[in-house]
Amino acid sequence: MSAIVLIVNDQERRVDAPPEETLLSVLRNRLDLTGTKYGCGEGQCGACTVLLNGTPIRSCLTSVSAAIHKRITTVEGLERSGKLDPVQEAFLAEEAFQCGYCTSGMIMSAVALLSINPNPNETQIKRAMNGNICRCGTYPRVIAAVRRAATALRKE
Ligand code: FES
Ligand code: FES
Repeated sequence: MSAIVLIVNDQERRVDAPPEETLLSVLRNRLDLTGTKYGCGEGQCGACTVLLNGTPIRSCLTSVSAAIHKRITTVEGLERSGKLDPVQEAFLAEEAFQCGYCTSGMIMSAVALLSINPNPNETQIKRAMNGNICRCGTYPRVIAAVRRAATALRKE
């Protein structure tokens, strides 16, 4: 076990964890950031998506040592001064979830997409969200939410 220093949601966090432990496990079990979900554990569902230096990654397949010195953003880090991120607001407004298990991963993928493409068309949205599986089948609402968020962000 060794002390590892991570930058999570703009805060320095120190954890005692083996370097090969998954980032998902460290976030959920050592830092109590349970917004990021364990779905398949095999890189297939996207429930564990977080941003590493702004890029969406599967935290279930990423060792914590690979995240050292990088900016880790989880769904808990999107809110600013008590205000939800526009993507979170849009998912709420479009009711783009049922059980909600996939939602944080969906939101993180959408945040990453809109950071590089402020006005994605439907094909681009589908491509960007392709790795996020929703067992409840909320895909049409997810697409609507991403569109709504894009519009809101362009007005900011
Ligand atoms: S839990 Fe990581 S992709 Fe499914
Ligand atoms: S809302 Fe249930 S898995 Fe997506």
